[in-house]
Amino acid sequence: MATIRDVAKLANVSTATVSRVLNNQGYVNNETRKRVNDAIKQLNYRPNDVARSLFKGRSKMIALFVPDIKNPFFPELARAVEDVTNKHNYTFVLCNTDDNLDKEITYLNGLQQKSVDGLIMVSSTISQEDIKNISVPIISLDRKFSSEVSSVTVNNRKGAEIATRYLKSIGCKRIAHICGPQSASNSMDRLKGYLDVVKHESWFLSSYVVSGDYRFQQSFEITREMLTQHPEIDGIFVGNDLMAVGVLKATKSLKIKVPEELSIIGFDGISIGETTTPTLTTMQQPIYKLGVRAAQILLDHINNPNHDIIQEEWDVTLIKRDSTK
Ligand code: RIB
Repeated sequence: MATIRDVAKLANVSTATVSRVLNNQGYVNNETRKRVNDAIKQLNYRPNDVARSLFKGRSKMIALFVPDIKNPFFPELARAVEDVTNKHNYTFVLCNTDDNLDKEITYLNGLQQKSVDGLIMVSSTISQEDIKNISVPIISLDRKFSSEVSSVTVNNRKGAEIATRYLKSIGCKRIAHICGPQSASNSMDRLKGYLDVVKHESWFLSSYVVSGDYRFQQSFEITREMLTQHPEIDGIFVGNDLMAVGVLKATKSLKIKVPEELSIIGFDGISIGETTTPTLTTMQQPIYKLGVRAAQILLDHINNPNHDIIQEEWDVTLIKRDSTK
């Protein structure tokens, strides 16, 4: 296989000149450029991507960090980012972080060494301090972690308010909330939206709010506990769909009829909600669109170093199905 040295020798120039032609950087006169290109063709030379990225400081690679690849919300987001970045000839790397700061930092260091061009991060644990030495653009997606980076999120507070009001409108008199992790900004915003509606109700008790982790199993357990202590609860707004599936399983195990005795509404709009019995009413996020926008903004930031900070907030939509009356 031909090397850059072979090309330089055949074209009778230095390897630095061949690099300049390959990377279209610096001055090379037309006659020399032609000699180099002819030599490249004659030798069927293929530049080594690692060497090119070392020279240019760019790899044509972007990475997406997600906290839980097993939650169907994130593959859909990842698919959107991949579609956009592939169209622009970027290599796409997916990092599953388990919301673990050590894992995030290890990935950040490794990717920087490989000259990654930009990062999209869904994170509850990273802070501005952790990314202060990262020199490439970062977009925070789904959860905001710094006012100094561009972000794409949904209006979580308003969505939670709509969900809770909907439960009231269909006649629920005691509405509980299973919230996501306290470290996640979107989960706290959803909690605020729920409280906006219920906190002045005479029936409201702080034990109607329990903390989940955006995962299925814990939600099953805490729901069983809460419904055993509070059989009067007749509506639950759940912080995401995966936890809502856990709630459905808990109601089944307690022989509580949904929606006759208890109405349940989730948040996300992942397709699993269409397959449960009963199907799940939810606040649907425009998941694919969020991924597309994050990728588009990242590419814009990579190509325009003097970009402004962009913070986009999208609306969510109530999808009525059979888990609510
Ligand atoms: O289901 C995963 C949850 O984590 C979603 O609600 C999403 O918004 C993310 O933060």
